[in-house]
Amino acid sequence: MTTIENEPETRELAGKRALVTGGSRGIGAAVVRRLLHAGAEVLTTARSATSTVPDGAAFVQADVRTRAGAEALAAAAREALGGVDILVHNAGGARPHQDASAIPDEEWQDALDLNYLAAVRLDALLAPEMRERCSGRIVHVSSAAVLTPIGPFLHYTAAKAALENYSKGLALELAPFGIRVNTVSPGRVATPGGEATREEWARLAGGPAQVNADDTTPLGRDGRPEDIAEAVLFLVSDRASWLTGSNVIVDGGEFPRG
Ligand SMILES: NC(=O)c1ccc[n+]([C@@H]2O[C@H](COP(=O)([O-])OP(=O)(O)OC[C@H]3O[C@@H](n4cnc5c(N)ncnc54)[C@H](OP(=O)(O)O)[C@@H]3O)[C@@H](O)[C@H]2O)c1
Repeated sequence: MTTIENEPETRELAGKRALVTGGSRGIGAAVVRRLLHAGAEVLTTARSATSTVPDGAAFVQADVRTRAGAEALAAAAREALGGVDILVHNAGGARPHQDASAIPDEEWQDALDLNYLAAVRLDALLAPEMRERCSGRIVHVSSAAVLTPIGPFLHYTAAKAALENYSKGLALELAPFGIRVNTVSPGRVATPGGEATREEWARLAGGPAQVNADDTTPLGRDGRPEDIAEAVLFLVSDRASWLTGSNVIVDGGEFPRG
């Protein structure tokens, strides 16, 4: 199993300043721990003040769904870190509904704001400073569910699909400035948000609360937040120096890639 404890401490991100959205639990918290372990200075954010932010990370309370929230976060990052070398937009998610027609207008907007526009706004605020330094790493967390969009989650997968398209274009625009932009698309990962969403979906469908991951995932288990954090670390490290505009799917082989 991948744990921070059995990873060699390379300090490959020593001197780097990282901003990770949604780092109070789940995948974001694992990313924060992984980047800290690799030597980065890390600021993270969530809407609620919480004791679950990993030790060693700075924390600022902010809601990234709004322009004001993104601006406050960028300002906090400049103040706490002096600038951002690595930006990981991880905060995301959406509640499932019975079918596409049952998704209320405000939840379409919410899904777009959280899963897509928050990344666009944060990038627009922080990439210009990366351009000046001719260096930067951006990772957007999408979802492998984009590959198989279904009605109950269309607000979510459509927003993530937009994020992936945008990420590719931004990567091309920023490549001449030494800035790499990549996407990580998790499959089914055991996190508080992921489990709550799947339970709600099962309730709506009238089925069992849990589908056995051994039956649906070729590698025979749900993902762990650390599995995703490892991919993020690789993408922001110099080991990925010729990777930009890529979408790394980390899903235990679950989703079809046609
Ligand atoms: N888990 C999976 O199976 C799975 C699969 C595919 C993709 N993903 C993607 O992976 C990412 C992380 O998912 P997760 O399962 O780790 O989620 P999670 O357990 O729900 O954690 C989400 C984190 O983001 C924060 N957050 C949520 N809304 C926010 C907002 N508006 N502003 C600032 N922070 C906010 C949460 O804190 P607060 O609630 O306090 O704000 C929390 O720290 C998401 O983009 C998700 O779409 C997850």
